[in-house]
Amino acid sequence: MLPPLDHIPPDLASLSDYEAFGRARVAPAAWAYLNAGAGDEWTMRENIAAFARLPLRSRVLRSMREGSTATHLLGLELEAPIMLAPTAYHSLAHSDGESATALAAGATGTCMVVSTQASQPIEDIAASATAPLWFQLYIQPDRAFTRALIQRAEAAGYRALVVTVDAPVNGLRNAEARAGFVLPPQVRPVNLAGMQLPPAEAPSSASLFGTAIIDHAPVWDDIAWLRTQTRLPVIVKGITDPDDARLALECGVDGIIVSNHGGRVLDGVPASIDLLPAVVEAVEGWVPVLMDGGVRRGNDVLRALALGAQAVLIGRPVLHALATAGALGVAHAIRVLRAELELAMALTGCRTIADIGRQCLHLPDAGPVFTGRSALR
Ligand SMILES: Cc1cc2nc3c(=O)[nH]c(=O)nc-3n(C[C@H](O)[C@H](O)[C@H](O)COP(=O)(O)O)c2cc1C
Repeated sequence: MLPPLDHIPPDLASLSDYEAFGRARVAPAAWAYLNAGAGDEWTMRENIAAFARLPLRSRVLRSMREGSTATHLLGLELEAPIMLAPTAYHSLAHSDGESATALAAGATGTCMVVSTQASQPIEDIAASATAPLWFQLYIQPDRAFTRALIQRAEAAGYRALVVTVDAPVNGLRNAEARAGFVLPPQVRPVNLAGMQLPPAEAPSSASLFGTAIIDHAPVWDDIAWLRTQTRLPVIVKGITDPDDARLALECGVDGIIVSNHGGRVLDGVPASIDLLPAVVEAVEGWVPVLMDGGVRRGNDVLRALALGAQAVLIGRPVLHALATAGALGVAHAIRVLRAELELAMALTGCRTIADIGRQCLHLPDAGPVFTGRSALR
């Protein structure tokens, strides 16, 4: 295994370049955890492939004077509509763990969503952060423990709760199982210490139904309950269906993240970007809709915004960059993505984030229909 870099070499030019650099610096079993998707990884691949099926419309000769990617979102002033998705156990990628990621978020004017399964105490991450932080909550079987966790996040200055609802059980991550991944002793879900966990049951074990883990899985009433437990904005993550989006609104949530968990839970779900428009339509502008899954280029950020997202979140590339060069790597990766977004905006004629819309894409209902290669001959 190679040590982390202390500089950024020129061949780290795009987010996907970080994958090979990260892989060379992480133990193979831990890499399988950090990078795997569920099942045959169709959804994971599709998250990326679907972006490429959305051709962009180039517009020319528009003034870009005073252009900006600045974004206002749920009380945050972000330099760009790009945030860091909650991902577990950053210490598997780099010994500086979540604190390094938070440092990079601060340096690049973005917001980090800290996972319930962070490998460092949420108070320590907040103490070392200059970025605004949101706390990602997995509602625990022990609701009193869940309430205490929310209170800790509030006391530590987290600015919103992101409640993840699409992973009541672990996905069937065959790649991880084949690699024989187990958490190394120095990496722990420290923020869950002291909780009475139901026995750990993988979905590959003989039976899921009837086990404590499924019997205590959260239901819609728990989202309504959560709303009564905090004054922080509550954002629900893992919505892919318009009917679920409407139910979330009925529970009083303040935001929705369209996400299939990076293809890590239910393999076979369509790409997040393909699911986004129906959710945006169902939400009717009542609350902001964000999305994650497969965002690897500034062009993808623009595509997601064109289809109604207010911001995107980045998962795996942050872990790859963290493994490659710690905080420096993460900050560089975010800057690369933002620079790509600026370029995409300039070349599609969008001076500000508010200018980005469906007109940026060759869609059947947005002006001239893209007729494919034959149109070029
Ligand atoms: C290693 C790993 C750990 C993750 N841990 C969490 C988590 O603790 N909570 C959560 O809500 N989502 C978690 N996710 C999902 C991400 O928040 C996000 O939805 C997904 O990674 C986005 O897709 P992308 O990796 O293609 O950018 C995790 C994803 C990865 C890759």
